[in-house]
Formats: sequence, structure tokens, C-alpha cells
Amino acid sequence: MIDDEHELRDLETIIGQKALDGNYTYVLVMYDSSKELKGSNLADVQSAAMAVQNLLLVACTLGIGVKLIGGLGDVEVLRRAVDAPHGIRPVILLAIGYAAEWPDPPQRRPLSDMLHYGKFAGKLQPNSRDP
Ligand SMILES: Cc1cc2nc3c(=O)[nH]c(=O)nc-3n(C[C@H](O)[C@H](O)[C@H](O)COP(=O)(O)O)c2cc1C
Repeated sequence: MIDDEHELRDLETIIGQKALDGNYTYVLVMYDSSKELKGSNLADVQSAAMAVQNLLLVACTLGIGVKLIGGLGDVEVLRRAVDAPHGIRPVILLAIGYAAEWPDPPQRRPLSDMLHYGKFAGKLQPNSRDP
């Protein structure tokens, strides 16, 4: 968690984004990549994504807004800046705060646009069970 003004300015320089202000609490989500599951070099991203999604759901339930900041610049520079040991990998920065307004949810693409059966762009076969 990062809320010190000087640390926020340093963080802005590292990630190359000028949007960090003191109205938010910042949480830098990191993962210990030295403990990756054997055979899965995506385990870090997968686990972190699930943890972040859980946090988003809880925050939403509590009426708290979260802005995702995935553009982190050089993550090795960022890791060293927060004194994290080698192997700890920054994944995403969360800006957490009370939203000034709750806009209407944007129009979602229909699930059928993104769901493929068997192969990419595969269509539901006549003998498939209706999912
Ligand atoms: C995975 C992911 C990464 C994102 N990374 C950034 C980012 O680096 N910088 C940024 O300004 N917005 C980023 N966004 C978008 C913001 O989180 C936010 O959704 C967007 O700015 C709209 O919110 P706003 O209207 O309050 O700005 C990202 C969104 C997602 C889903």
C-alpha cells in the first residue's frame, strides 16, 4: 500500500503516468514468482488476476471504486523502488477510493461474440449439449 506523497511522485515517474493523486489509496499487487507452480509460467498472472477480481467484487459491494493501472513501466525498476526482493513481480497497481459518481455500466458485447467451441471461431455443433 502506498500513500506517501513523495513515494507517489516517484511511482508516477517510474510508471510514466501522471494520474496518481492523494485522494486514492494505492495498492501495488505483486506475486512471488519464485514459487510458481511447476509447468505453469502463467500461474503468477492467473493467481494475481483472481485476487484482484476478488478485491474488485468486495470493493464494489462496499461502494468503493477501484481504478486499474496496468501500465507499470519497467517492472524491475518498480520492484527495486519498493524494496521488494528479487523474484517478487509487480502485476498491477490499484487506485482505491470513493467514487464521485457511479456511471451506468457500458454496453457489453454479447457472450456469443467471444465464446468459441472447440476451435477459435468454432460454432456450436448440432450434437453439442446446449451449454
Ligand atoms: C487491465 C487493465 C489495465 C488498465 N490500465 C490502465 C492504466 O495503466 N492507466 C489508466 O489510466 N487506465 C488503465 N485502465 C483503465 C482504468 O482502470 C479505468 O477503468 C478507466 O480509466 C476508466 O475509468 P475512469 O473513467 O474513472 O478513468 C486499465 C484497465 C484495465 C482493465
